[in-house]
Amino acid sequence: MIILAIETSCDDTCLAVARIKDKKLEILSNIVSSQIKIHEKYGGVYPSLAKREHQRNLPLVLIKTLKQSKFSKSSISAVAVTIGPGLEPCLWTGINFAKDIAKELNIPIIPVNHIEAHILANFIGSKSKFQNQNFKKLFPAIALIVSGGHTQLILVRGIGKYKILGETRDDAAGECFDKTARILGLGYPGGPKIAKHACAKPGLAQMPRPMINAKNYDFSFSGLKTAVLYHFKSQTKKTQKSKKYIQAMCFEIQQAIIDVLIKKTKKAALDYSAKTIIVGGGVSANQELRKHFKKEFNNILFPKKEFSTDNAAMIAVAGHYNLNKKTKDYSKIEARANLKI
Ligand code: KG4
Ligand code: ZN
Repeated sequence: MIILAIETSCDDTCLAVARIKDKKLEILSNIVSSQIKIHEKYGGVYPSLAKREHQRNLPLVLIKTLKQSKFSKSSISAVAVTIGPGLEPCLWTGINFAKDIAKELNIPIIPVNHIEAHILANFIGSKSKFQNQNFKKLFPAIALIVSGGHTQLILVRGIGKYKILGETRDDAAGECFDKTARILGLGYPGGPKIAKHACAKPGLAQMPRPMINAKNYDFSFSGLKTAVLYHFKSQTKKTQKSKKYIQAMCFEIQQAIIDVLIKKTKKAALDYSAKTIIVGGGVSANQELRKHFKKEFNNILFPKKEFSTDNAAMIAVAGHYNLNKKTKDYSKIEARANLKI
C-alpha cells in the first residue's frame, strides 16, 4: 500500500510518500518546502500569504516527492492529510488538494491530527505496533508537544488514547522564541536564532520562569516575552546591539523556557507514573533542551531533528495508525482549526 501524506497546517508545504508492507511503514520520500523567506519580513506567519504559497507549491512538491519515491501518482492507494489544528485557510489548501487526488484516483482519505502526528514522529522508522511487543512497555507516557502554535502536556495511555493534562494559557513556547527573537532583532523563525546566539553571561539578564511553581500542568509564556521587551527597552541603543547583551538575553530566554518545560513535565511524569517521556514539535529540535531533558529523564524519546519541525513523514505515520478512519465520503473531510487531540 502506498500512502501520500500532505501537511499544510502552517507555513511549510510538506509532502511524503510511504509504503506499508507487512504492516511496517517505510518513508520513501519526504519533502518540506519552506516559506521562511516570505514570512521573515513580517516576523511571523501571514496566513493569507501562506495559503497562496501552499497553492502554488503543492503541485510542484507533489511532482518532486513522487519522483523521489520512484512511484507514479496512479500507485497511490490512500491520502493522509492534516485536518487540524492549524491555520484554517492553510489547512483547506492541503485538504482540497488531497480531495482532488483522491477523487481522481477513487481512493480514500485518512484525516490526521497534527498534534498526534508530532507524537508519532518519534516512531518513524521503528517497527509497527503490530510487530513490536516492546511498544507496550512505553505506556503510560507523558508527551510534551512544543511547537509554534502549541505547548501541551498529554497523558498517552497507548496510541490513540490521549488526554490533555495542561497547555499554554497564552503564547506557545515556539511563539515565545519567535516573538522574543523579533524584539532582539534576530529574525524568523526565532527558535534556531535564539539557540545560535545563546551564551551564558552570568548576572547580565535575569528573566522570569512563568508558572513554574503553579500546581497544575499549564504554561504561560507571554509574561516572559513582556519581561524581555521591558528589559530590552531599558537598555541603551549601544547595549541593545552589543553581542554580549544579545548572547545573555538569548541564553536566559532559552533557559527560562527549558526550566519551565522540565519542571512541568517532571510533575506530570511523577503524578501519572509515566514510563516514558515523548517529546515532539519544532521546539524539540533545540539542542540545549534535548541535553537538559536527557539529563533529567532516563526514558525519553525525541524525533530525529528533521521530524521535530513540521513534515509530512509524521502525517504518513499518523495515517498508518489511523487507517480505520479512512473514508471515501470526501465531504466529511473538513479543516478544523482548533481540533483537539
Ligand atoms: O512544529 P513546528 O514546525 O510548527 C508548528 O506546528 O507550529 O514548530 C515551529 C516552531 C517555531 O516557533 C520555531 O521557532 C520553533 O519551532 N523551533 C525551535 C527550533 N527550531 C524550530 N525552537 C527552539 N529551538 C530550535 N532549534
Ligand atoms: Zn507542528
